[in-house]
Amino acid sequence: MLRNKKIILGVTGSIAAYKSTYLVRELIKAGADVKVILTDSGRNFVTPLSLATLSKNPVLYKFTEDEASGDWNNHVELGLWADLILIAPASANTLAKMVQGICDNLLMATFLSARCPVWVAPAMDLDMYAHASTQDNLEILRKRGVEVIDPESGELASGLTGKGRMSEPEEIAKRLMDFFNIIGPLTGKKLIITAGPTHEVIDPVRFIGNHSSGRMGFAIAEVARDAGAEVTLITGPVSLAEPEGMAAFIRVKSASDMFMQVTARSKEAQIIIMSAAVADYTPVTFSTSKVKKAENEWAIELMRTKDILKFLGEHKRDDQILVGFALETDNEEENAQGKLERKNLDLIVLNSLNVKGAGFGHATNQVTMMFKNGTKKDFPLKSKTEVARDLVNEIVNLKT
Ligand code: CTP
Repeated sequence: MLRNKKIILGVTGSIAAYKSTYLVRELIKAGADVKVILTDSGRNFVTPLSLATLSKNPVLYKFTEDEASGDWNNHVELGLWADLILIAPASANTLAKMVQGICDNLLMATFLSARCPVWVAPAMDLDMYAHASTQDNLEILRKRGVEVIDPESGELASGLTGKGRMSEPEEIAKRLMDFFNIIGPLTGKKLIITAGPTHEVIDPVRFIGNHSSGRMGFAIAEVARDAGAEVTLITGPVSLAEPEGMAAFIRVKSASDMFMQVTARSKEAQIIIMSAAVADYTPVTFSTSKVKKAENEWAIELMRTKDILKFLGEHKRDDQILVGFALETDNEEENAQGKLERKNLDLIVLNSLNVKGAGFGHATNQVTMMFKNGTKKDFPLKSKTEVARDLVNEIVNLKT
């Protein structure tokens, strides 16, 4: 989405500065690298600590960090570092200084040194915004190539109603993605993907698990992210690292943890893909201390877990796309078709364990996709990333 994009966010003295915390979150969530420059009056409205924590970078507001050591914030370097400077909120005062080239703070010095595009999101009271000075300043800035994100109308902090409210952070983030030409076919869609096995605990040292590596689900998460989706990846115990740019990344252990995490979020999602190999059975009881071996045999009583996908299928909305996986050894298509219908799915991805190089633990996979409308598509053996691309393409086609 905004991965590898370096953005300087200038925050100036306007009550809308509180929105800049949300804006930083949106930009970070989209994968951008954000450095915040706060002006002195901006600091009256929002704390450097909040912005530093959210942006994961120190907030810059002075030319010199430590006068004794001579450490200073090099505005020329900052200006050259950025792919884009976004000043949001931009106060009337900052807009005027930008027009005049008044270099009295770090933000202005960086603005004057920058070669990258500059955007401003003005925010002020309606009369200040409507004032001829402000309007003329905006006109001049526009003529010089500065992109102005027009404020919206609504209730203002003064209690008056009119134009002057800073555009919403989500809206600004979307426009940035659009600008960087990275609106993908799933932009604006919330997608949940599950991956990996589940571990059903027997005692503190033992569990029932399976061989799922999580690689297929992680590959889908990355491809969906690149297609613009806001991805929540919920994974069972795997040795894979969190992929970049996830909206949320949640590690779970058991089938019942996964049920809770998925169903807590499923209402907001437009697309849900259950690629996890969820255990169908779990021990009826588990021992809090290690079970010692004995001479006789040990039988563990198991009970059924909740079928997450079936639950999602029963509560599916018309605008939701539900995708399941089936791993079969016999009567493959018949079994997968049964699951597609029973669980009210739009699409099921059938992995055959009979194909060499496909399924658990391999870097490749060979799948057949079966659709609600009765059609099916066979795909050749491919890398899991390519299979993920095929799947995301099919989902995009279902959506349109
Ligand atoms: N699934 C689930 N919740 C479970 C079990 C499975 O959501 N408790 C999902 C899996 O993520 C997968 C699909 O259901 O998308 C697999 O269907 P399932 O009927 O469980 O297949 P198997 O586990 O292979 O079971 P069986 O073939 O024995 O019916």
